[in-house]
Amino acid sequence: MNSSLLVRACRGEPTERPPVWFMRQAGRSLPEYRKLREGVPMLESCRRPDMVVEITLQPVRRYGVDAAIFFSDIVVPIKATGVDVEIQPGVGPVVAEPVRTRADLERIRPLEPDDVGFITESVQTLTRELGDTPLIGFAGAPFTVASYLVEGGPSRHHERTKALMHSDPDLWHDLLARVAQISGTFLQVQVAAGASAVQLFDSWAGALSKAEYQRFVLPHSAATLAGVTTVPKIHFGVGTSEFLPLLAEAGADVVGVDWRLPLDEAARRVPGRAVQGNLDPALLLADWSVVEAEVDRIVAEGRAAPGHVFNLGHGVLPTTNPDVLARVVEHIQG
Ligand code: CP3
Repeated sequence: MNSSLLVRACRGEPTERPPVWFMRQAGRSLPEYRKLREGVPMLESCRRPDMVVEITLQPVRRYGVDAAIFFSDIVVPIKATGVDVEIQPGVGPVVAEPVRTRADLERIRPLEPDDVGFITESVQTLTRELGDTPLIGFAGAPFTVASYLVEGGPSRHHERTKALMHSDPDLWHDLLARVAQISGTFLQVQVAAGASAVQLFDSWAGALSKAEYQRFVLPHSAATLAGVTTVPKIHFGVGTSEFLPLLAEAGADVVGVDWRLPLDEAARRVPGRAVQGNLDPALLLADWSVVEAEVDRIVAEGRAAPGHVFNLGHGVLPTTNPDVLARVVEHIQG
């Protein structure tokens, strides 16, 4: 699997074209996904290897993408440690008892690989079924996961999270260290079972200043990634252009870039690293001539980096027409 286009691009080795996959390619806009998920709660589907395997394979079959992303969720490992969390349709993760005190934190135990045997089984089956297509494992970064734990659900301003990090830095660092252990173990389990690369999602880190990120978040994201040593690591955030070098410093081979920053400028900010991105997912709803011009621009700008993994700047929107994604893949693969 080391010779896959994805792994070569992640390692900054020359490739004839960028590999292409899409964040949130599994689920969301696919009718075959919606049909399979009927009547099965999100987090239950993540515990069922038959469903995980099928949903992970659906976009690979439909689009012919150069990588599969493991079907799971960033809250699956905290749920496996006993935290009462559900995913409400159209809303996101909701935590029954938010974490705001030391006593709350002490209820969250570390993750043992045996807690997620269903992950090992799913990844093992998938890597067999995928053949030459690499599987990307993933986890939520400590800040993004902690934001759900502290707020109790999705949040626009992350105000309780920010208040906690500044008011009680000791508790904050202990909470992030705990989440780093959980997300880190989750990544290691996926790698041990056969994942060819991993991505750490810090989707909400853009809510922070550079100074906050450096002091309150970076050491914990670095600890999460440090346990992965044998496969390439992609580190992605939204709205993180102002501190892109810190995402690299946390231990990434590949820095994920949202649509706000052109990839040639991103490459200048993280010298020596590969980049991933960065088509604005909203533009997939525009006319094809617009999409095509954007894809061509991004492929050209990506050549400024030692390696480029073509992706969106954030996840596929639920309103996306799957045929447009298929056309993007066809256009890049030629
Ligand atoms: O295609 C893939 O990328 C596969 C797996 C995947 C899911 N969630 C499945 C999912 C991945 C990589 C994630 C990561 C994730 N989960 C992130 C980081 C990525 C990002 O988009 O920023 C975050 C912040 C979450 C938390 C989460 N889970 C939210 C906010 C939501 C609700 C909003 C939504 O996407 O609909 C979920 C639910 C979720 N996770 C769904 C899927 C397919 C939708 C559930 C459903 O179909 O009912």
